[in-house]
Amino acid sequence: MAKLSIVGAGAVGTSCAQWAVNRNAAEEIVLVDVVEGLAEGKALDIAQAAPLCGYSGRISGSTDFSTTAESDVVIITAGLARKPGMSREDLLEKNVQIVRSVTEQVVAHSPDACLVVVTNPIDAMVYTAFKISGFPAERVVGMAGVLDSARYRTFIAEKLGVAAQDVCALVMGIHGDNMLPLVRLASVGGVPLSQLLSEEEIAEIVKRTQHGGAEIVGHLKTGSAFTTPGLSAVEMAAAIIKGQNRVLPCAAMLDGQFGIQGVFLGVPVVLGRGGIVKILEFELTAEEREALLKGAEAVKRQVEATGI
Ligand code: 2OP
Repeated sequence: MAKLSIVGAGAVGTSCAQWAVNRNAAEEIVLVDVVEGLAEGKALDIAQAAPLCGYSGRISGSTDFSTTAESDVVIITAGLARKPGMSREDLLEKNVQIVRSVTEQVVAHSPDACLVVVTNPIDAMVYTAFKISGFPAERVVGMAGVLDSARYRTFIAEKLGVAAQDVCALVMGIHGDNMLPLVRLASVGGVPLSQLLSEEEIAEIVKRTQHGGAEIVGHLKTGSAFTTPGLSAVEMAAAIIKGQNRVLPCAAMLDGQFGIQGVFLGVPVVLGRGGIVKILEFELTAEEREALLKGAEAVKRQVEATGI
């Protein structure tokens, strides 16, 4: 019986649980949080949607990490979210401690699990989970590129008045202002984006994508996005649990790919049983490579700041 655990019953963790039930991601879903009653209450609420959405499995909530035992995938969302005026990096000092502690508890109960890390700043937090867990790199991925690419595709679709599902567009690199929405490879129903929008229009969409998270924080005031981050993490978890071999942009440990070594960065990967099946490396233009390397340098600085 496939088991998905979600650590953190805040906005993103709850969104993960809702989407996991709605998408029938696993027969058993466990939501844990340190706050008494929070995961229990949210899981009970979501469980009652089962008759309406057709979920046939079981979801439960607890403060006890032993309830996550023998998970196939664990999504880690625990940590603080940013507020207006904050960067994701501002969360690093607090969140590295939370991710360290959570990872230690998770791996003690699920030594064979794959970890999908969502906590920000994601590229440094997934590195933290990788080092603390001691898991092989293919079993530790960060959620960012699926979310950023969804935003990129949405903005393109809105501009063109087309269905977002027919827009194919990839965002690589750091989950930050220097992320790399690839213009050269974006297409709409197979038609190159550069033949459908002007350079100025595309530049505007790229910029909006790079600041997509902050735009939502600016509206919400009390926190950051949670609905699409939750679905993005569940898409990744389902790909692993169901062995789907989905091609999704994930923060993965690079071991020379794209000329980068020893950092987690958003790249297209094949995600299936056991985690990362392979990283899809491809030729970049000099400009794209420079942008990717710039992001990798920023991630290296973040990782140094974690002290891990
Ligand atoms: C975002 O980009 C929370 O980092 C997340 O919305």
